[in-house]
Amino acid sequence: MTVKLTFLGHSACLIESGDHAVAIDPFLTGNPVASCAADDLNPTHIALTHGHDDHLGDTVPIAKRTGATVYAAFEICNFLGEQGLENLEPGNPGGKITTDFGFIAFTQAFHSSSSGGRYLGMPCGVIVNIGGHTIYHAGDTALFGDMKLIGELYTPDVALLPVGDRFTMGPDHARHAAEMIKPKIAIPIHHSTWPLLTSDLGEFKPAGVEVCALEPGASIEL
Ligand code: NI
Ligand code: MN
Repeated sequence: MTVKLTFLGHSACLIESGDHAVAIDPFLTGNPVASCAADDLNPTHIALTHGHDDHLGDTVPIAKRTGATVYAAFEICNFLGEQGLENLEPGNPGGKITTDFGFIAFTQAFHSSSSGGRYLGMPCGVIVNIGGHTIYHAGDTALFGDMKLIGELYTPDVALLPVGDRFTMGPDHARHAAEMIKPKIAIPIHHSTWPLLTSDLGEFKPAGVEVCALEPGASIEL
């Protein structure tokens, strides 16, 4: 089945297939490069990589309005439950949750995860299997050697990789990440949003992987 992936700016994206729409890290309000408003996003599912505000974003108002089910770390789901969300699917790195379109799985990520000083569990990467395709959103992470294993286990068609440096991999490390994961397409994310994040992606040239640097609002079809 055709899968449409739209980059929404920063680390946010929307993956659509048939009647399903999975939003990952829907940070739109306060995101200077957001391609749409939170009120205009209508996901059926939301997956979160970690609890930082530039990823948790508008999850609570979007999920309250749409009834979308939220997939996130155990501690994040507890936090969201306290804010009135009911459709929650907690997980942790290494785990997989079967859905009506395929599955959502969590991988490790080397980062931190908190909101307002509250610990929000392990930071994660997210694997979305939908419409016969597999997408790996690495979240915020440093480079780590087990990305090779993630590539072997899930054989993702697309990998969304942070390249902005300072808080995550920069373009040079992300090149190594893409070469280990070996997706068909690598999409750079978490860059150019603010001056602290690099907008020079010149070194992000992984061998054997097509780089698709999407502008916010742009889509690819799988
Ligand atoms: Ni973060
Ligand atoms: Mn971030």
